[in-house]
Amino acid sequence: MAASLTLSLLTLTILTTAVAATNITAILSEYPEYSEFNNLLTQTKLADEINSREPVTVCALPNGALSSITGKYPLSVIKNVLALHVLLDYYDAPKLHKIAEGSVLSTTLYQTTGNADGNLGFVNITDLRGGKVGFGSGVPGSALDTTFTKSVRQIPYNVSVIEVSQPIAPAAILKAAAPKASDVNITALLEKAGCKTFASLLVSTGVLKVYTSAIEKGLTVFAPNDEAFKGADVPDLSKLTNADIVSILQYHALASYSPIGTLKQTKSKISTLATNGAGKYDLSVTTAGDSVSLDTGVDSSRIASTVLDSTPLAIFTVDSLLLPVELFGKAPSPAPGPAPETSPSPSPSPVADAPAPGSAATPIFSPPAPPRSSPDGAPSEGPTADSQNSTSDNAAGVLEAPAVVKMVLTVAISMFVSVLVS
Ligand SMILES: *[C@@H]1O[C@H](CO)[C@@H](O)[C@H](O)[C@H]1NC(C)=O
Ligand SMILES: *[C@@H]1O[C@H](CO)[C@@H](O)[C@H](O)[C@H]1NC(C)=O
Ligand SMILES: *[C@@H]1O[C@H](CO)[C@@H](O)[C@H](O)[C@H]1NC(C)=O
Ligand SMILES: *[C@@H]1O[C@H](CO)[C@@H](O)[C@H](O)[C@H]1NC(C)=O
Ligand SMILES: *[C@@H]1O[C@H](CO)[C@@H](O)[C@H](O)[C@H]1NC(C)=O
Repeated sequence: MAASLTLSLLTLTILTTAVAATNITAILSEYPEYSEFNNLLTQTKLADEINSREPVTVCALPNGALSSITGKYPLSVIKNVLALHVLLDYYDAPKLHKIAEGSVLSTTLYQTTGNADGNLGFVNITDLRGGKVGFGSGVPGSALDTTFTKSVRQIPYNVSVIEVSQPIAPAAILKAAAPKASDVNITALLEKAGCKTFASLLVSTGVLKVYTSAIEKGLTVFAPNDEAFKGADVPDLSKLTNADIVSILQYHALASYSPIGTLKQTKSKISTLATNGAGKYDLSVTTAGDSVSLDTGVDSSRIASTVLDSTPLAIFTVDSLLLPVELFGKAPSPAPGPAPETSPSPSPSPVADAPAPGSAATPIFSPPAPPRSSPDGAPSEGPTADSQNSTSDNAAGVLEAPAVVKMVLTVAISMFVSVLVS
């Protein structure tokens, strides 16, 4: 019995270790020569995105090599350039020197933004003569003047950090400066994204001003689409006080720039603009594969599309209105498990509209497959705001892993429990 107990504990320990994510910030912090690069990964939140991916290769730039882009371009542009330095495949020195046919296009994190035209989201890696490996933009005809200088850290075959000589910075990315966040017309963007009702509520209540004044320090908006206001479960807004409507609208935004990769890494509850002394008004994030949902304690809403992701501002659409526990109490929960009834709910509790487990809504941010070795210039489809229907093989693969881990974990726990009982 003691033996099997140890075995169960061992299984649990191993699983926990395997699930533990990479921490690129911690890895790079051991190398002061990449401190600037490391700081930028943190500032742009690319670190969260890197930590949520495997396999991944980070092409680190030494401090001196960054001066050609830092200080000259806004952080949103620097983020796009650095996203091109994150390859969604594993490359270590031996693999770089053994590239089939001497040249390959690798998908990068920039491709997953859906903003990359043509081959702009790919990096061309070419085994040059004399043992040199060159990197350049995947756009045909680009120079390969960035070279591999050395290996930094390898965790085969999931995470590789290598050093490259200079930034891969295609002119098309440098020129495409996003409008300054303070110049972005949030209502216009929301209207265009099918969130007219939400946009007009923001204007009529004056909450738009609260949003815009928060932008500079970082703002993330979860905008319910127009359909979300029509559901049978949606509370009648005309029966709420103005103050409550203001709280609900403020509940749909965070006072920080939190792109999807950051939300995925979020384990604890997050404060919203409605959070104040009197109410927590917080949200929790649940992730199933590529699908990210926000949980209020009353209902759950899937993040459906990205309207804008340009540091310091991120705007997403969500499938349903987020109903704070503070106003709508706890919905009668059919879910098993201890659900402490915090306070009797005087207000009408709308039925929780949580998606059925397993129905894991079609992911929107799955990495696209790299193009074949001889791209004919056809744009490789990246996920865009309206490509939510696509069910790629890729996405299915992504969804699989956590499910398997969960299953194994469940088995291990039941083994453990049965050992204790017997
Ligand atoms: C690397 O990835 C494989 C497959 O995804 C996984 O089984 C393994 O635990 C990972 N190794 C490390 C060190 O993270
Ligand atoms: C990653 O490491 C950094 C520095 O060591 C630390 O500050 C940070 O909290 C870590 N992040 C996670 C998600 O563990
Ligand atoms: C990489 O770039 C070189 C030089 O522009 C080009 O000859 C080669 O075909 C490219 N490789 C791929 C896979 O596109
Ligand atoms: C933003 O766009 C809306 C239309 O969607 C328009 O009514 C409003 O005047 C615009 N605001 C600014 C500051 O341009
Ligand atoms: C998504 O699916 C719906 C219904 O099947 C279809 O009408 C719509 O055109 C599809 N959208 C895209 C982007 O494929």
